[in-house]
Amino acid sequence: MKIVTVKNQIEGGKVAFEALKAALADGAKTLGLATGSTPLAFYDAVVSSDLDLSALTSINLDEYVGLDGADAQSYRHFMAVHLFDKKPFKENFLPNGKAADLSAETAHYDAIIAAHPIDFQILGIGQNGHIGFNEPGTSFDVTTHVVDLAESTIKANARFFEDESQVPKQAISMGIASIMKSKQLVLMAFGKEKAEALKGMIEGEITEELPASILQKHENVLVIADSESASLLNQ
Ligand code: GLP
Repeated sequence: MKIVTVKNQIEGGKVAFEALKAALADGAKTLGLATGSTPLAFYDAVVSSDLDLSALTSINLDEYVGLDGADAQSYRHFMAVHLFDKKPFKENFLPNGKAADLSAETAHYDAIIAAHPIDFQILGIGQNGHIGFNEPGTSFDVTTHVVDLAESTIKANARFFEDESQVPKQAISMGIASIMKSKQLVLMAFGKEKAEALKGMIEGEITEELPASILQKHENVLVIADSESASLLNQ
């Protein structure tokens, strides 16, 4: 893992943006994208650049079950507001949280990922070490699946909703096996709430109890952390 420490999220977004430019120069065609507050400065850097993404495909990590893409709390809406409406891609894939048959939807999403191998995957990290919505205890071998969200994740994400009771209890998430197939991973972490998870991910044992720890086995990972999230690291 290559670890870059930055002053703040804005600087971190610029480092991730430079990594994206290098990946595009190297022929990247498919971007794996994430939601949450972590990638926002990165998306701002992309939006304010002159990069043309119109030939690219994007595949997002996850979506809440039960939310329509038009719902203001859905991840599809989040991506439209922060990136897609401002920087058009060739196509944007997210799981369909309103699919009548969720199991068919997971298989369909796996087929999409297989047809568009991800070159450059943006990741945040949950306070409990989740990536995408792969919660602690999720098998490293799993592909797209329906997840029961951890209580701590529901609480952490409640800030995006009017109140905690409105946070969906389930999501569809790309699996860890699919994330690990991406050519390059760029994980950002900002703030002291992420310090424990980041330490476990980088210095702890590789365990399904801390899903992000599997990244130790990937050969091309860039970690971008501010001083707060990096505060518990040995180096
Ligand atoms: C959410 C998302 C993840 C995200 C993480 C951290 O639950 N499913 O993709 O990385 O939690 O969120 P934030 O960036 O807001 O801290």
